[in-house]
Amino acid sequence: MEMERIAESGKTRHPLSSAGGRCGGVGRILLDESIIHTRLDGLAGQICSDYAGLDLTVVTILKGGLMFAADLLRRLDMPVHLDFLSVSSYQGTSSTGDVLFHHTRLPHVNGRHVLLLDDILDSGCSLHAILHTLRQKTHPLSIKTCVLLRKDVPRRHQITADYVGFDIPNEFVVGYGLDYKEHFRNLPYIGVYKEPVRRP
Ligand code: IMP
Ligand code: MG
Repeated sequence: MEMERIAESGKTRHPLSSAGGRCGGVGRILLDESIIHTRLDGLAGQICSDYAGLDLTVVTILKGGLMFAADLLRRLDMPVHLDFLSVSSYQGTSSTGDVLFHHTRLPHVNGRHVLLLDDILDSGCSLHAILHTLRQKTHPLSIKTCVLLRKDVPRRHQITADYVGFDIPNEFVVGYGLDYKEHFRNLPYIGVYKEPVRRP
């Protein structure tokens, strides 16, 4: 059903969509702003009802999860603590599999329920490493995962995500926090990345 909605989504271009210059541009829009925001309303409602009366800390994975977190958190009608982690495993358009933690300080989540927010579940290496580290080094009451996008690819780790915004095909996407070499994060929608045309 989500895939049908993706196919129906807008075809209009945003002026920022070719901002990458030599880094290419956005080939087509996969999820426009209104589709994203409607889905966030649904996710927020589900999270509020699942965590009603519990001490929740939302830990956002930077930088990709930034837009998702900002828009989702404003929809959570409940008390939450916020924290952040910064990791990377990507170079260009593929995962290296090595997950680097940029901040060694881990969130203070002792005795709290943790919801990890990430932009996209691809190989699963990032979430696997983060779950492993948080479980070993902190003492939360529970940890669940929430991703805006889940790519249709074989995963290197058995991770499904507890909350998923959209299931998407195996294409490299940019916008709404997601980047190609740091470009396109500020697009308000999600589009498929298009390589630059190479001139001889
Ligand atoms: P994983 O560790 O392979 O699951 O990938 C997780 C991270 O890789 C995501 O949080 C993104 O930062 C990045 N990533 C994976 N797929 C894409 C994509 O299609 N576009 C942009 N970034 C991506
Ligand atoms: Mg990320």
